[in-house]
Amino acid sequence: MKTLVEYARCTPFIVCAHRGASGVAPENTISALQAALDSGAMMIELDVQTTSDGALVVFHDEQLDRTTNGHGFIRQCTLDDVQALDAGSWFSSQFKDEHIPLLAEALQLVRGRAYVNIEMKPLIASEESARIIYAIVQTVVDCQMRDYVVFASFDHHALLFIKSIDPHLSTIALNVPYDERLPHDVVRTCHADAYGCSLEELSRERVEDCKSHHIPIGVYTVNSIVELEYALKMGVQGVVSNYPDAIMSHYRSRKK
Ligand code: G3P
Ligand code: CA
Repeated sequence: MKTLVEYARCTPFIVCAHRGASGVAPENTISALQAALDSGAMMIELDVQTTSDGALVVFHDEQLDRTTNGHGFIRQCTLDDVQALDAGSWFSSQFKDEHIPLLAEALQLVRGRAYVNIEMKPLIASEESARIIYAIVQTVVDCQMRDYVVFASFDHHALLFIKSIDPHLSTIALNVPYDERLPHDVVRTCHADAYGCSLEELSRERVEDCKSHHIPIGVYTVNSIVELEYALKMGVQGVVSNYPDAIMSHYRSRKK
């Protein structure tokens, strides 16, 4: 498998599964990751949170309530507490045995089959957040995924810190809502390799700015054919989707 840098260089358009294939399975679970792999998506996005005992888990919200049968902040629960929760029934009874995966477990599943877009949720600048970022990088290295992952975040200090650990690690600066700066300015301040924004934030000005500064641009969350056609017309290099299967099928069919 090519490294992510090599792959991106020779691939005009990348479809990234959002929180796994989260339109067809509960987000950020093994089933969602497996569905994304089955769809043939070459990149899978997932979110990382920490537990009170320092474990790195794949989970989107700060609180457990929306997607599990637990309550309260995930960072205040131990790994054992968190892993005992049902992370699938909220989506469908078919997924009642789903648990919250460890980051390492997710990386091991995907290794050799797809690239991983690891979203680090904003962290408060502190020694604790430095420890968390080091631990995420160490997990990636231990799973032999260093050249196959990209780190994305709205927290540009965290991205800068990633580069200080290893400048060869790839990063995507996600546009912070209401930040009116052009992409090259955002990317320059945190030395990111690419830029990401929401569909609502996508504009000709942003795309042109990326083009003239040779910055790849990706957009989230593209879940329909209409949204895909719009993103392609605007000239993005990648989309993040809950339905990678449908989005890739349409992309392939329009090329014929
Ligand atoms: O890829 C970016 C996207 O995942 C950010 O939004 O809320 O889904 O984590 P969110
Ligand atoms: Ca995310």
